[in-house]
This record gives sequence, C-alpha cells and structure tokens, in this order.
Amino acid sequence: MLRLVKTLQIQLQSALEKACPEAAKIAHASDTTLNPQLGPASKPEFGDFQVNGALPLAKLLKQSPRHIALAIVEQLQTNKDFSSLCQPPKIAGPGFINLTLTTKCLKEELRIQLKDQRLGVPLVDSAKPVQGNGSVVVDFSSPNIAKEMHVGHLRSTIIGDSLARVLEFRGYSVLRLNHVGDWGTQFGMLITHLKLVAPEALTKANAIDLGDLVHFYREAKKRFDEDIAFKTAARQEVIKLQSGDPLTIKAWKLLCDQSRKEFQQIYNQLDIRLTERGESFYNPYLKQVIDDLDSSKLLVNDDEAKCVFLENISGKDGKPLPMIIQKKDGGFNYATTDLAAIRYRFNPSPEGDGAHRLIYVTDAGQANHFAGVFQIAKRANWIPDYGRIEHVPFGLVQGEDGKKLKTRSGETIRLRDLLKEAVSRAESDLRLRLKEEGRNESESFIMKVSNTIGIAAVKYADLSQNRKTNYQFSFDRMLALQGNTAPYLLYALVRIAGITRKGGGDLDIAIENLDFNELKEWSLIRELLKFDEVILEVEEGLLPSRLCTYLFELSQVFNRFYDQIPVLKANEPQRSSRLALCRLTAQTLKMGLTLLGIPTLERM
Ligand code: ARG
Repeated sequence: MLRLVKTLQIQLQSALEKACPEAAKIAHASDTTLNPQLGPASKPEFGDFQVNGALPLAKLLKQSPRHIALAIVEQLQTNKDFSSLCQPPKIAGPGFINLTLTTKCLKEELRIQLKDQRLGVPLVDSAKPVQGNGSVVVDFSSPNIAKEMHVGHLRSTIIGDSLARVLEFRGYSVLRLNHVGDWGTQFGMLITHLKLVAPEALTKANAIDLGDLVHFYREAKKRFDEDIAFKTAARQEVIKLQSGDPLTIKAWKLLCDQSRKEFQQIYNQLDIRLTERGESFYNPYLKQVIDDLDSSKLLVNDDEAKCVFLENISGKDGKPLPMIIQKKDGGFNYATTDLAAIRYRFNPSPEGDGAHRLIYVTDAGQANHFAGVFQIAKRANWIPDYGRIEHVPFGLVQGEDGKKLKTRSGETIRLRDLLKEAVSRAESDLRLRLKEEGRNESESFIMKVSNTIGIAAVKYADLSQNRKTNYQFSFDRMLALQGNTAPYLLYALVRIAGITRKGGGDLDIAIENLDFNELKEWSLIRELLKFDEVILEVEEGLLPSRLCTYLFELSQVFNRFYDQIPVLKANEPQRSSRLALCRLTAQTLKMGLTLLGIPTLERM
C-alpha cells in the first residue's frame, strides 16, 4: 500500500490547524489571528512537542493565555487522529501546550520506519504542481582556473556536496554546478605572459603543471600592474578571447584543461560529482543582461561605466552603492556573469534551467556581492514568484593558533597535501590501535580504512561546525576517537552493526511482536523517530551541522540504552525488539553519514 509519508510534526501541525477555527470561536478571535506554531519540546520533561503562540495572542485579544490554550486543547481532543497520536495535552505555565506521543503511536511509527528504506523521510510531494521544472541549483566548489584550489574551496566543496545529497535524497533534481572562474582579465595577462616565457604551454597539452601555472600567473599579475605596454597587450588578448579568436581560444582551452585535471584529482579523492559550467558559459548571455537592465530603467551611466545603484545598501560615504555591470572599456565583471547566471538558471524556457531554488555556497566574504546581485535580479524581474535564492556563507578556516591556515614555513597549504596528511595520520593511529588490540590485518585493509577515516575526518570536522562561524582546523581533534568526530561515529556504526549481526533473527517477525517497557528504550525510539524531521530542517535551513549533531546525539542515546539494558542476553520478545532498535540505529547512522558524503566501513 502506498502511504503518503508525513513526519509526525507535520501530522500534528495539521491537527492543530484544523482545531484552530473552532478554538478561535470559543476564544472570540477570528481564525486568522489564531495561528499557533508547533515545535519540538525544549526539554524532555515537557513531552515531545510544544505549542507556542497562545501567549502573544492572549496579549492581542486581551484574554488570559490559559483560556486560549484551553480552547485549543479542547478542540484538539475532539480530533480522533490527534488522540491516537498524543496523550491528553497538558497546559504548562501561562499557556504553553505540551504534547506527549502515546506509546501506541511511537510503536506504530517505529514499525513503519523499520520497514521503510527511506527511514521515514518523505519524498517531495509529487502531487503538487511542479514549479519551473522542479530542479534546484547548488552552485559550489567553483575554484578559479590557473590558481590553486584553496581551503575555502574545500569548505564550499564539502558543504555544497552534502546539501546536494540531502536535496537529491528528498527527490529534487539537483544541478550541481561548478561555477569555475575561467574568463576575463586573468587570461589576458596569463596568455600574454606565457607567449613570452613559455609559448609551448599555449599549444601543447601538459607542457606545464598547475604549480607552474600558478607561478606564471603571479608573475603575469605583477607585470600587468607595473608595465603599461604589457597591460595593453593583455587587454587586447582578453578582447581576442571574448570575440572568439581561434588561437587564443585554443590556448585558453589548454590552460583550463590543465587546471581541470588537478581539480578532478581532488574531487575523485573526496568522491564529489560536479557539472562544470564556468563563467565563460554565460558569455553569450551578458548582452541580454545589459538590455534587460536597460529596459527596466535600472542601468545608469556613471563616469562612462554602466552600473546599477543598489537600494538600502550604501558605501562608506553613506551614498547608495553602485554595482558596475559594464566597465568603461566595455569589459564585464564577476557580478555581470552572476546576473546572467541567475537569469539563465530561473529561466523556464529551453534557453535556461527552470530551477525554483538557487543555492550559492561560498565564504562569508562574498555576502555583499550576493546581496547586491540578488537585489538587482529581483528588481529586473528575473526571479519568478515561486523562486528562492540563497547565499550559504561560511567562515574562514583557521589554524590552531586562530590565524589563517598556513604550513609551518608560512605558505598556503595545498589541498592535496592537506588530504594526504589527514590520511597518513589516520594510518599511524590505525597501526597503533591494531597493535594495542593485538590484531593482524592486511595492508589493503589498512590502506582502505585509513583512507576512509582520513577523508571522513576532514569532511566531518568541517560539516559539524556551524558553518557561519570561523573554523579551527586541527588534525588531532578531527581524528580523535572520542567526541563529535567522524572516527567516533564510524566506530559506533561498526559496533552497532556488529551487535545486529551477532543477534541474527528475522526482522519481519520482530516487527510484528515489538515489545518495549524500559524508559531507555523509549528514549532511543524517540530519537530514531526524529530523523525525518532533521532532514527537513537541513533542507530548509541548509545547515549540515544540524544533521551531525543529531547523529552524535543518536549514538549517545544508543550508548545509554546499550550500557544499561541487555540485548543479546534478553528473553524474547524483548531480545528481538531491542535488536530491531540496534538495527534501525545502525541504518540511521549509515544513512546520515552517507548524506554528509561520508562513506562508512564494515570493520575498522
Ligand atoms: N570562483 C569564485 C571564488 O573562487 C566562487 C564562485 C562562486 N559562485 C558564483 N556563482 N559566484 O571565489
């Protein structure tokens, strides 16, 4: 039977909404004002959920909040669906309504979750009319050609990938776009310089590697700033590139390929899938941006540059800030390309993506840039009424000294080296542990496990932080077997999966005979049932750390259960019921880690 999956919170919220019109009559309010919100209980003593909102409403209606809460409770209890989910509600303090699920409901939900491969997480509502073509763009990673990928790009890559995974799991068609910096002035400089110092790089593949390229780029930039003749030549080269001169285009392609190969190595190592659609892709659409902005009367000529003045965003001098769309010399900016990209991504015609949500994962330093382009896109009417556009900012990566992450000799850390070090440290930890445990494992086992743990540790350390704050990079902390770390969770999963394997038994029979009578069992069940809601929260708030915190809490609640309650030694039907809980815990951890982009292990 096809069951329309709804999270418990959604079911309760809808019961609440049904109760409101009647309750409003009793409380002499019009139902539009009676709109209480349901949320998880702030403390376990309060039950599972609580309803807030009676308080502000009471002020509005000049009534006692208790009176209003009572009216809501009375109505809720006339609803049969509600009564099968919740015990009679309790009114606490001046008008909070506390809801506690019935054991019957908990058991029923658990039964459903045990049978469901999606662990209760609903798929996007296919009954709803699709807006645009139903896809979501996640713009992430996005390094710049001819420059090294740095730790900021690493954060974007890891965070963006996990958000894309969550959205994909929910059933959206996700466009994972790599908006690489592959266009503009930097190529003019680079090509002009290479013509003089390393012309073979412009005609032959693999003539230089990315390290050299980065070095040449730095030299080129220096000359560009110092030498007027060089500057002019570089500008001409850009114009040649933008107008499609075959030789320049060929050189440009070679340079892009070189960088691309390097980036791909990192993506392979991190298991990241991305579709490259760099800035150059939008070149043919830039003119339409100018035309649109012009016809919506947003474009202003300011000292020969074309710009749009931003509303409610002013510069240091307090005057409205202009965003330059086309420079004096006719060139376009990073912002122009982003405007063309927004226009293209929302555009539902074949000449666009028809997305309904755009998500941009970059460092917080670009917040003003995105606020500006989003505003202009809105004013130019490129964002459909159903469209959603969000910048997902993250803080800086710092070393343990709180300063910018550097090598010991003070250079910027290369990503490849950083990942290599994580893996090699994981390997020495593992060899030590194996020795202590007196285990003898094959080299291929050691390689596989240390690789998984090393990469998992780097990813998880990044994801488990609230992304908005700066984040201190510490190999020791991320590789610790204790605390909110990847090794801890991977190990918890291995252990729990081991228990279920040892326990054996037939899950289908267990599901029909579930029997629980311990508080620690109910706490674990409650925790397991939160998974669906957590996934919806990540979809909405775009904070992977929410999922990390949940997985960490789940494994702690599990430990409390497993430390105090016998599982394998219990009698039936408790034994099978408890094994079913172990099994679901393992599945939830595995699914959660997978959604974070972290592969799991059978043994470690
Ligand atoms: N290439 C840029 C950088 O390295 C990031 C691009 C982000 N995406 C975008 N659509 N602007 O900072």
